[in-house]
Amino acid sequence: MSQYKKTVVIGVTGGIAVYKALDVISRLKKKDFDVHVIMTKSAVEFVNPLSFQTLSQNIVNCDMFDEPKAWEIKHISLAKKADLMLIVPATANIIGKVSSGIADDLLSTTIMATKAPVVFAPAMNTNMYTNPIVQENIGKLSRLGYDFIKPESGRLACGDVGEGKLPDTEFIAEFVESRLYDKKDLKGKKVMVTAGPTVAYIDPVRFITNRSSGKMGYSIAEEARDRGAEVTLVSGPTSLKKPFGIDYIGANTNEEMLKAVMERFKHQDIVIKAAAVADYKPKTYSSIKIKKSEDDLSLSFVKDTDILKKLGTIKEDQILVGFAAESNDLIKNAKEKLKKKNLDYIVANNIVSKDTGFASDDNKVTIISKDGNNIDMLKMSKRKIARELFDMICNSNY
Ligand code: CTP
Repeated sequence: MSQYKKTVVIGVTGGIAVYKALDVISRLKKKDFDVHVIMTKSAVEFVNPLSFQTLSQNIVNCDMFDEPKAWEIKHISLAKKADLMLIVPATANIIGKVSSGIADDLLSTTIMATKAPVVFAPAMNTNMYTNPIVQENIGKLSRLGYDFIKPESGRLACGDVGEGKLPDTEFIAEFVESRLYDKKDLKGKKVMVTAGPTVAYIDPVRFITNRSSGKMGYSIAEEARDRGAEVTLVSGPTSLKKPFGIDYIGANTNEEMLKAVMERFKHQDIVIKAAAVADYKPKTYSSIKIKKSEDDLSLSFVKDTDILKKLGTIKEDQILVGFAAESNDLIKNAKEKLKKKNLDYIVANNIVSKDTGFASDDNKVTIISKDGNNIDMLKMSKRKIARELFDMICNSNY
């Protein structure tokens, strides 16, 4: 996903989670980042720098006064080279040093000298982490603009249970990627996305739903987050991981989704309705399980709310984007929906084509704007489609 090769300088400090930093580096390398490592003296006690050198494919920097390997002043050159500094794991010691303005080794001097964003991923014993001194240091650094990846709760290496565990390395790598995303043109904007299917209950154990996986909506929400927006994701039931850094609201039924969306609509700048909302629900809900009988069973359905259409009637300055899932007459049907629901854009996709559409990672869509511009896209990942959609919105006079 990363469009440009950016440089991440990783500071490794001495805690048992040092070995996990290796995996973070491996993941960042796979995402095509240039990675440089600085290890403190105590980090070296845990893992040999050779492992870091092999994975980062760069010389590991361990001490201020090492035999120089180049003419540059190391802490200044690394500080300048960094597009982002990630301290993983970050001990109470490095957090305390930086918050007190102490710069007495290669890592603390580099942090002091850099203009790049600095992200700390603390990992330590839970009593250390919750110690008011550490918390005060974290609070001070946060106020000064340093970022923290909050540790998780769990069983720690020392046997204690509590907060202080380094989060998943996949999450840490995704966090870095998100911070370094090449476009930040949605900064200051509020974006609400709906995703996934809705369900309509028949009785306590039965319901009807559809095959929407939620992947398209989740990709749109992640793209908006990475471009700097404040994102709300209203999602039906899916098997996808909740994206980080997003306000997540679960909504199972049409009614729940309607409520969640209506409560938040007027505060939004952009609303994108990628959810496959059920148009009908059973006329009656049986609060007890329907028993089988000798006869056939027929159910009657009543119409449920068209949420998007409702938003179209109350919209003010919001950009409103809908989807059109069609099996025939794609463009004609999509244009009709765009008009009928008072939308700014509609993303039309053919749901019967084999390797795109529902549940697939890829999609092939046409984006139509209300002023008649069409963009026909080739088959591409749902994330790329999300990028194109926001490019189109941000490049308009919006
Ligand atoms: N939508 C909605 N509420 C509904 C049905 C659809 O908000 N009850 C939204 C979807 O989120 C999507 C758009 O309307 O953005 C179009 O959905 P789609 O299922 O393609 O169309 P429908 O309007 O339901 O029409 P039809 O099923 O007849 O094609």
